[in-house]
Amino acid sequence: MTITIKTPEPRSEGARAFLARRQKQILIDGVWRDAGSGQRFETFDPASGRLLAELAEATASDVDEAVASASAALTSKEWKGMTPSARGKLLWKIAELIDAHVEELAELETLDQGKSFRTGRFGEIPASAEQFRYFAGFCTKILGTTIPTSIAYQPEGREIFAYTTREPVGVVAAITPWNSPMLMAAMKLAPALAAGCTVVLKPAEETSLTAIRLVELMLEAGLPKGVVNLVTGFGEVVGAALTAHPDVDKVAFTGSTEVGKLIVSAAQGNLKKLTLELGGKSPAIVMPDADMALAIPGIARGIFSNSGQVCVAGSRVYAHRAVYEEVVDGLSKAAAALTLGHGLDTGTDLGPLVNRKQADRVAGFIAEGRSEGAEITSGGNQTGEFGTFFEPTVVTSVRPDMRMMREEIFGPVVAVTPFDHPEEAIAYANDSPYGLAGSVWTQDLSSAHRLAARVKAGTIWINCHSYFSPELPKGGHKQSGWGYENGAPGLENYLETKTVCAVI
Ligand code: NAI
Ligand code: MG
Repeated sequence: MTITIKTPEPRSEGARAFLARRQKQILIDGVWRDAGSGQRFETFDPASGRLLAELAEATASDVDEAVASASAALTSKEWKGMTPSARGKLLWKIAELIDAHVEELAELETLDQGKSFRTGRFGEIPASAEQFRYFAGFCTKILGTTIPTSIAYQPEGREIFAYTTREPVGVVAAITPWNSPMLMAAMKLAPALAAGCTVVLKPAEETSLTAIRLVELMLEAGLPKGVVNLVTGFGEVVGAALTAHPDVDKVAFTGSTEVGKLIVSAAQGNLKKLTLELGGKSPAIVMPDADMALAIPGIARGIFSNSGQVCVAGSRVYAHRAVYEEVVDGLSKAAAALTLGHGLDTGTDLGPLVNRKQADRVAGFIAEGRSEGAEITSGGNQTGEFGTFFEPTVVTSVRPDMRMMREEIFGPVVAVTPFDHPEEAIAYANDSPYGLAGSVWTQDLSSAHRLAARVKAGTIWINCHSYFSPELPKGGHKQSGWGYENGAPGLENYLETKTVCAVI
């Protein structure tokens, strides 16, 4: 099957107007301008190959200016002097503007990234607004404590008064990936601003459009200049300059484990604080008593949505032998029923992968697996005029040592393995350098919570997969990352504690 696709015209006035302004700029200290070098790079619709925009290609000297602007804004009257209540209102206003532009933002995300319009319109864009709404509430509730001390050596007749205050960690470099571009940016910007930090945002070079539009909306909401700066460009240049910069206090990164490790090295110079949301190889364990009417569509959605380009995608399914055939059959039928096409076409379930390179990478895993004896029960082919699509694929007869079972594929590929005893399922599930997420499918309460406790991962879902919300902390155990995003722990990572101890 070869799909030839044209880019449909976006329906929203906003997306059309945004794309009509073909050349995009970077934002430094409240001013949009070209990169210092004057260089640009192009961004395309991965479904049709159409050129969408030319982006400013920033270099290290632009990064220096962006960081200087963020440093100055940290102590500016407009930002540091803003009351917590006003900061909360500002975040809420940003959420309202995102909601008001939801159609436009979803269309831009589909065009730039490939995902189905539905995913953006009803999932990721409203979820981005919710990030700002959730963290808006924290602004007025960032509290220190008073501490009764037991220190024995205060001078006669004096007392000790000790307390803590919370301070923003400082200048944050937010480096985001291409799988859910707007949501990943919102997940960093919202807590950073709630904490009073300032930010230099570097979106993925493949998908920078919604980040640009989001920052425009943030300025429209009244964000003071310098509080958020935006530099578009390449990871090895802009990302590397930010992570090594002596005046960046923290890096908030989502992306590959490989780049996560590079950032750990680069951050050594000034011992930056790091939160790293890295890769995953998340297991789904299906017990013999699972409710199949929930499990099959839930597992299918957990791996195939966004064409598998999801850090928590449930790419390894372990099914009890009593239900193994039913799971393989059910997932294969669910895969075959999904329609590939342009994300803006209403009948489309799955768009292309983000680019040819990513689709080639997925195809490489499948070819290697096949040569080692893996069997494909559905899909398995790279397709589309530009080779950017990949069919939703179900694989069986895999072994734990195969590369497709150890590395993050980041495509619509799920491998199903039978097990006989829950201990075997736990051993399989934990046999991975990753520990991001996992799901357990059973109607037995005890078995559900026992399995949840035994699988090493930052999130376990029971009878669901890939359920997110800003109040649910999300982070990786093992090599899936450091620190947490969302929930109260997500705010903590943007705050320092200061202890004040006084003899009075
Ligand atoms: P990547 O990790 O290279 O890209 C993520 C971000 O890091 C981008 O903004 C990029 O510009 C930036 N970056 C790249 N090199 C950098 C450096 N040296 N210093 C600082 N920042 C840098 O991901 P890539 O190469 O686009 O995708 C490769 C694989 O990574 C995917 O197939 C997938 O397995 C994994 N990945 C995982 C993600 C997740 O959410 N877990 C997201 C994106 C990719
Ligand atoms: Mg890369």
